[in-house]
Amino acid sequence: MSESRFGEFEEAVRRLQPTVAVVLGSGLGAVPHGFAEAAAVEFGDVPGMVAPTVAGHSGTIRVGALNGTPLLVFRGRLHFYEGHAWEQVAKPVELAAGWGIRTLILTNAAGGIHPELNPGDLMVLSDHRFWQRIDSWKETPPPSPYDPELIQTVVANEARRGRKLLAGIYTALTGPCYETPAEIRALQQCGFDAVGMSTAFEALTARRLGMRVLAISSITNKAAGLSDGPLNHEEVLANATRPAERMSEILGDLLGKWPIPE
Ligand code: HPA
Repeated sequence: MSESRFGEFEEAVRRLQPTVAVVLGSGLGAVPHGFAEAAAVEFGDVPGMVAPTVAGHSGTIRVGALNGTPLLVFRGRLHFYEGHAWEQVAKPVELAAGWGIRTLILTNAAGGIHPELNPGDLMVLSDHRFWQRIDSWKETPPPSPYDPELIQTVVANEARRGRKLLAGIYTALTGPCYETPAEIRALQQCGFDAVGMSTAFEALTARRLGMRVLAISSITNKAAGLSDGPLNHEEVLANATRPAERMSEILGDLLGKWPIPE
């Protein structure tokens, strides 16, 4: 760990004062296209943070500007299925809050359950189910943590570009293995649109800390049993990068008109 590297990075954050942060999930690209970087630090050089262990996830924090708006970028995240405690999973969000971030944009890779979702598509989260604890399916779902204004803005921006962006419900499961076809049928009957292994706890943490939250899934595959053949991590990684350019445009469009009124 290098204290000085972290010190320099924090100095840059204090200078630029970003109020928006984005977490780039599995394979979604190193940085959004057009991002002007001022400083970067590895997760391993941040006191209290550890480096991710999964293929396709490097762990870097960058600060700079996108389309004129200061932005903090987390490339990679820590997952519960890697064996990390929830405090570690939430650490980037806590760090961001400490630096004055008011809006968090989360991205992830997910399997598509909704019939209109195909590999390479994106889905904006209207809500989620945090099904990563024993018996969590028994609880009455609390209100959605996702900001309706930001969702509307992103959907409208995409419509202006002639692209349809589906808004749907994401379920976070523990992993580390993909679901069985029977589990996917059950999730389908619950009315869920996509399935993944991250994001929910980060979104809940961000809300608890008073942030506005937006989340977008990159659909890497049809969920288990909804297409021919079994799933594998290589396919997921290969497809995750497909919408990287579109994701960059979505972020650029959003930040170009920042701040979005509540
Ligand atoms: N299930 C869970 N997580 C995922 C999937 C999936 O099908 N695809 C990408 N992340």
